[in-house]
Amino acid sequence: MGLENPFVPYLATLKMAIHLTPDIKLLGVELEDPDIRASFDYKPGQFAFLSAFGEGEAPFGIVSLPQQGDNLEFAVRRIGTVTRALQELEPGGILGVRGPFGNYFLLDDYVGRHLIIIGGGIGMAPLRPVINRILQQRDNYGELLIINGARTPQDLVFQPEFPAWMEAPRTKLELTVDWGDESWKGRVALIPDAVKELAPSADNAIAIICGPPIMIRYTLAVLRNLGFKDNQIVTTLEAKMKCGLGKCARCNLGDKYVCQDGPVFTLEQISQFLEQP
Ligand code: FES
Repeated sequence: MGLENPFVPYLATLKMAIHLTPDIKLLGVELEDPDIRASFDYKPGQFAFLSAFGEGEAPFGIVSLPQQGDNLEFAVRRIGTVTRALQELEPGGILGVRGPFGNYFLLDDYVGRHLIIIGGGIGMAPLRPVINRILQQRDNYGELLIINGARTPQDLVFQPEFPAWMEAPRTKLELTVDWGDESWKGRVALIPDAVKELAPSADNAIAIICGPPIMIRYTLAVLRNLGFKDNQIVTTLEAKMKCGLGKCARCNLGDKYVCQDGPVFTLEQISQFLEQP
């Protein structure tokens, strides 16, 4: 889809806003122009900028799938003025959308492979459409192991979807938290330790991982110890972004632009830029 002026956002209406956790809201957004809405195609892994008029814009992974309907969904964590303004918008409010941008997860290339999806906190957001896409085409893939971790039980995102994820064939959802509470009966472990304990096999497997940099670094070390090669590990990166178009050089990683060459990379492509734990 071509944007007439890629710096000018499309107008959109906030249709739905629900709390996923105390500081993360799921926003459902509908583009106002029906022609643009019909032609706005995107794939798991791509992102868009949301603008809160008068405050600015920020990039967010698109967490819905096009087949789900007209709403584009975004998980917005309150971390600054733009995200605060987006969270305070009431349904019916107007915001801007610029995108879709970036590359995407090459799920067609993973047909026949076992998949291990590891997300920490808001890092689960870009992985949610990956999981739901795999579940739509469940027969195409081997075993699916989802490891969803967060600081506390109430910080686990996408809880309404857990039953569907747990009941899907050949699919396992493992939850882990850094700190439990009286009602938490599940695992209490940092994500790298949970991965070590679960020890997924690297045979014919792809690991897809997203979360805070420190979690990624330590989890990568565990995966490598389990025999995963760098071309079997895929991640999606956050970066400071302004244009999304490969023009402002804010998001560079060596000779790559996260906004255009990424945000999805294999570890093989980026390992030189990651610090070893
Ligand atoms: S955000 Fe401007 S070059 Fe990537």
